[in-house]
Amino acid sequence: MLTRIEIDGFKSFLGFELDVPPFLALVGPNSSGKSNFLDALAFVRSAMLADDPELWPSEVKHWHFHVPDPAAMRRPASALDRRPLTEDAGNLAAVLGRMSRAGGLDDLLVDLAALVPDVTGVRPVFDERSEEWSFDLLIDHEPVPCRLASDGTLRVLALLAALYDRASSGLLMVEEIENGLHPSRLGALLQTIAQRAGVVGDSWRQVILTTHSPVAVSSLYQAAPDALVFLEPVSRAGGGRPRSRVSVAKPMRQAGEPGTFVSPRQGPYPSEHGGAGAMSRPRPLGLITDQYGSCRMTKGDARGVAAGGPAGPLLPAYAEWVDATSKALRSHGFL
Ligand SMILES: Nc1ncnc2c1ncn2[C@@H]1O[C@H](COP(=O)(O)OP(=O)(O)O)[C@@H](O)[C@H]1O
Ligand SMILES: [Mg+2]
Repeated sequence: MLTRIEIDGFKSFLGFELDVPPFLALVGPNSSGKSNFLDALAFVRSAMLADDPELWPSEVKHWHFHVPDPAAMRRPASALDRRPLTEDAGNLAAVLGRMSRAGGLDDLLVDLAALVPDVTGVRPVFDERSEEWSFDLLIDHEPVPCRLASDGTLRVLALLAALYDRASSGLLMVEEIENGLHPSRLGALLQTIAQRAGVVGDSWRQVILTTHSPVAVSSLYQAAPDALVFLEPVSRAGGGRPRSRVSVAKPMRQAGEPGTFVSPRQGPYPSEHGGAGAMSRPRPLGLITDQYGSCRMTKGDARGVAAGGPAGPLLPAYAEWVDATSKALRSHGFL
């Protein structure tokens, strides 16, 4: 499982470090570096896979990008396909068939029924002649072929398959999780993800996702606040380099009233004060500035942005955004 990421000199990341929990939800406005973060992992993976396979850390073989394509999910899949769920989820039917033969579909179906109330089950169907799997959804207990299923239902099903299939365990990376999902499903889906992430028996499951949905932020704030990390673009100057934009991460912790977001890494770098986590003296990278102030940016200091002072409310903009959007969605009956 990934426990820490350091990115130095890739796209918008410079001297960037982040401790990574089993479930990491990266939130941020456009151009804050969310996709760049996953691109960095894709880059590492492709570099390793291009290298001598004997040298690959086995970890990397279990990194799965999840970019589900509903059209691909509707197609039958060969019973010979024993792979984990593929990136586009095009072998979903084979994964469901394999899981049902192994008796491993029940928990998934409980979650599916809770997330998509009119779906009461999933029935994998094996075609002896073509040796292919397809599946029916049971809608109010009546079988409906998967080719007629809605995109949103298929997206939920594919994500659950990735979370429940033992062969698909490892690191699951999902861009903009809210895409194609009804806001009322998103919160419950995130809670399922939070419950599934971690070490289960002899396998591990980690989820890194990106979102700019206030619904996601609001529900994670309640259900899994440690998963939330805000990415923000800040401008950097000095260090002998031209002014540029870099991404910084601000993990969230709760303080004061609910809805108040604060950064845990404000103030001087720990090594200057001999704190428990003291590290070697950092290399200066320049001065970074965001709407809350500016500070000298040093290697390993990507998370602490505002200079000095006690921790305080740092991201009220997010709190307002979540509150306003949640209210609007609730008033329209979406939440
Ligand atoms: N090679 C690069 N060097 C520096 N910045 C880059 C590079 N490639 C992309 N960027 C910057 O990254 C930002 C886009 O980040 P991205 O991860 O796509 O944002 P989002 O959070 O919307 O997914 C843009 O501001 C772009 O200028
Ligand atoms: Mg993006």
